[in-house]
Amino acid sequence: RPAPLVDRFGRVHTDLRVSLTDRCNLRCTYCMPAEGLDWLPRPELLTDDEVVRLVGVAARRLGITSVRLTGGEPLLRRGLPGLVARLSALDTALELSLTTNGIGLARGAAALREAGLHRVNVSLDTLRPERYAEITRRDRLTDVLDGLRAARAAGLAPVKVNTVPVRGVNDDEIADLAAFGAEHGYRTRFIESMPLDAQGAWERDRMVTADEILDRLGERFDLIPVGRPDNAPAEEWRIAGTEAVVGVIASVTRPFCGGCDRVRLTADGQLRNCLFATEESDLRALLRGGADDAAIEAAWRGAIAGKGPGHTIDTPAFRRPQRPMSAIGG
Ligand code: GTP
Ligand code: 5AD
Ligand code: SF4
Repeated sequence: RPAPLVDRFGRVHTDLRVSLTDRCNLRCTYCMPAEGLDWLPRPELLTDDEVVRLVGVAARRLGITSVRLTGGEPLLRRGLPGLVARLSALDTALELSLTTNGIGLARGAAALREAGLHRVNVSLDTLRPERYAEITRRDRLTDVLDGLRAARAAGLAPVKVNTVPVRGVNDDEIADLAAFGAEHGYRTRFIESMPLDAQGAWERDRMVTADEILDRLGERFDLIPVGRPDNAPAEEWRIAGTEAVVGVIASVTRPFCGGCDRVRLTADGQLRNCLFATEESDLRALLRGGADDAAIEAAWRGAIAGKGPGHTIDTPAFRRPQRPMSAIGG
C-alpha cells in the first residue's frame, strides 16, 4: 500500500481529475466566448499512453483511488472507450467517472460502461430548449436528455446532473430541475458559479448562493439533510416522501477546501494542486524527458507539498488562475 499523498495541512489526496481536452462543443455563456478559445495544439496534449502511465503512477505509488475524466468536453476525445478500458485494467479498485455535457452520451454510454466506467455527471442548466440554446449557444437539449437516459440505461449509476444557476438566466428553474431529477432518477446538484470563466465576466451578484438555492427548493419540497459524503463538494438533502436526493455545491459561500482531497492534471500534462493554483508542475516534460516512475512520484509529491490552504474567492486577495475552468477541468 503506497504512502498517502499528503500536504502540509494533513489533507490526504485520493481523487485525481484528468482533463482529456480543453475543447468543447458548447459555448456556455458563463464559461467561454462565442468564438471559443485558443485550443491547445494537439502535440501538446498527453497521448493515451501518457495518460495511462500517469494514472498508473498515481494509483500504484500515490494512493489515488478515484479518477474523474473531464474536459473541456471529454467525449470529444477520440477513442475514449479504449482509454477507459486501459485505465480500468490498471487497477480494478480504481473508481472511474466522467463529467460531461452529455452530448454524444446517447451513442457512447453503453460502450463506456462496458469499458469499465462507473459513473457520469452531466451538466444541464435548463429544461427549456430555447433557453438551452441561449445559455450554451447550441440547440442540443434533446441530445443531452437522450444522453442522460442512455447513461441510466447503461447502469452508469448514480447519474448526477450539474446545474449552475445564474441570476436572471435560469434561477427560476431550480425547483423544476430538482423535480426533473426526482422523476427520472438523476441526482441534481446546484453549483455556485465561480470566477473561472474565460472572459473574466463573473459577477458576485449574479451567482445564486446556497442559501437562495435552498430557499427555492424549500418552496416546493420538504428537504431532509443527508449530509456530505466524505470530502465531497456537494452537501445533500433527500426530498421527503421520495428516494430523490438533491445537492448543493457551495464553493463560494461555504468553501470546502479544508477537506480537499483533489489533484488535477490538465490535458497538456500539467499537475495542478488546486483549481485556483497559481503554479503548475510540468509532468509532461518529465514523461517526455524519459523520467522513471520514481521521479514522477517525487515531482507529484513535491507539488502536493506546496498546496495552499484554499481559495480566497470572497476576499480582496483573490486572483483568478491563469487558465479558465474549461482548460483546467471542472
Ligand atoms: P462526485 O462528487 O464524485 O460525483 O464529483 P464532483 O461533484 O466532484 O465532480 P463534478 O465534475 O461533477 O464537479 C461538480 C462541480 O463541483 C464543479 O463544477 C465545480 O463547481 C465543483 N468542484 C469540483 N471540484 C472542486 C474543487 O476542487 N474546488 C471547488 N471549489 N469546487 C470544485
Ligand atoms: N463555476 C462553477 N461551475 C462551473 N461549471 C462551468 N463553469 C463553472 C464555473 N465558473 C460547471 C459546469 C459543469 C461542471 C464541470 O462545472 O456546468 O457541470
Ligand atoms: Fe463546455 Fe462545460 Fe464550458 Fe459549457 S461549461 S462550454 S459544457 S466546458
